[in-house]
Amino acid sequence: MGNEASNTLREILDQSGEYLRWLKEEGVGQIEVSRRIGASRQQGVLTMKTLPDGKRVQTAGRMSVKKTVSAELATEPAGSKPRSVPEIAAEIAGCKRCVLCRTRTKTVPGQGNLSPEILFVGEAPGADEDQQGLAFVGAAGQLLTRMILAMGLQRDEVFIANILKCRPPGNRVPTPEEMETCLPYLQEQIRCLQPKVIVALGATAVRGLLHSETGITKLRGTWQEFQGIPVMPTFHPAYLLRNPPAKREAWDDLQAVLHKVGRTPPPVKPVKA
Ligand code: URA
Repeated sequence: MGNEASNTLREILDQSGEYLRWLKEEGVGQIEVSRRIGASRQQGVLTMKTLPDGKRVQTAGRMSVKKTVSAELATEPAGSKPRSVPEIAAEIAGCKRCVLCRTRTKTVPGQGNLSPEILFVGEAPGADEDQQGLAFVGAAGQLLTRMILAMGLQRDEVFIANILKCRPPGNRVPTPEEMETCLPYLQEQIRCLQPKVIVALGATAVRGLLHSETGITKLRGTWQEFQGIPVMPTFHPAYLLRNPPAKREAWDDLQAVLHKVGRTPPPVKPVKA
């Protein structure tokens, strides 16, 4: 195996391993690996095998991975079984579709409940996310956590993802090309997750999901649609950290989201003077 291929394999194994460990911590006991991947690899890292009695077991075997891992996984034939979120994450881990793969530390596929009522979509990983491989774990992420808790939910009840799966250097705004290149991953994740509502956090999420150039200030609080799923655009938590008065409007938007999924917002706690 050439150097480039073995580096790709090492990256995929490192990052998939971390993602699988995280899934285990979150209580996911089993994942399915598509038959096509198992068959094309002959012996993959994880292969699900169906026994004659119909039981499915996980087998591990000799590895023989070709250089074209991501290209092969990216071309799911039309009509075949949709991939699972962990399978998509495994492909993202080895993605080299754009220049951001050269500067990233870890890919950030997104994480959370695999059948969520609500999917939050942000812009792109920042420095903390790039280090940890998890979405929204920095300062903006801490505010997002407080927003989710205020909605009467736990972070692990929702799914949190971004338009881009890799950090743009210096946290610059993603280019239209990077967004177009990365968007198929999010589209596929959304097809798997089937959330009842998507919350688009900030202008980049709105541009990526809705291809709308309307400013977030104008669009926020108005229902939109993506792949047939209602989308609520609202302010990005990083903006709310800089402009705390806008939290009031963001809270109105989140209440509309709760209403849409048939939940009642928890009673507001009296604020101590
Ligand atoms: N900002 C984002 O848009 N996403 C993150 O994951 C973190 C900060």
